Amino acid sequence: MKNLKDLMTMKQEGIKISMMTAYDYPSAKQVEAAGIDIILVGDSLGMTVLGYDSTIYVTLEDMIHHGKAARRGAPDTYIVVDMPFGSVGISHDKDMQHAITLYRETKADAIKIEGAHFELIEKCKLIGIPVVSHLGLTPQSVGIMGYSVQAKSKETAEQLIQDAMAAERAGAVMLVLEAVPSDLAAHIAERLTIPVIGIGAGIETDGQVLVYHDVLQYSTERKPKFVKIYGDFRPGVEALKTYHDEVRQKRFPTEDYIYNIQVMGENND
Ligand code: KIV
Ligand code: NA
Repeated sequence: MKNLKDLMTMKQEGIKISMMTAYDYPSAKQVEAAGIDIILVGDSLGMTVLGYDSTIYVTLEDMIHHGKAARRGAPDTYIVVDMPFGSVGISHDKDMQHAITLYRETKADAIKIEGAHFELIEKCKLIGIPVVSHLGLTPQSVGIMGYSVQAKSKETAEQLIQDAMAAERAGAVMLVLEAVPSDLAAHIAERLTIPVIGIGAGIETDGQVLVYHDVLQYSTERKPKFVKIYGDFRPGVEALKTYHDEVRQKRFPTEDYIYNIQVMGENND
């Protein structure tokens, strides 16, 4: 498993870091088998596997449930788990309790926090919880910012640079930058010491992250500009239709799939 030091070294040496979401045992197992550097148990699971239309309905319990499953599937991969909507920004005590619970229960290597919660990042660091900061487009704030590209003006770009530096100063171990202009992301990646992982943030960041269900076309309809397709789960529906037809038509199970041991002989009384 890569640790934080390895990931820092990768940044220093210009070796790009790969990160992919996984929310359960089989997907985490696949991501680990593929040799991907970091697994993100993202709250995007609210949309991809729970069927919500945004991430704001995902609970801390949901994240713990999925985080634990992902850990069982990928015992040897660096795992980051998202703090969901409503679990941060309430009060110091509650935020900290939520962070501790998520970190402890899931056995994740780090937690990820959306937005400018720099004091919380600092407090987490103080007690030993590694935090990944998530800036730019932060989907938990969809009600305020929508899903559009962020930091398009000089002022908002400068604000993002300041926030990124504040996250690093607060002790964030990594930064995820979502849907921002590539030249800005490149500038931030160069300016920060910690690895900057981009999604819709161009090629000059220290690594990339995408959503498993998006890249494999696993029952996802929306396709943001930054998603590249790498696989196709859609034929699964055809396979299930075939199964259904074969059951109906009594073509399954055939000889190969049954325990053909005679125990009901004609005169076995
Ligand atoms: O929840 C998620 O999948 C994420 C990534 C898109 C960065 O936060
Ligand atoms: Na997320």
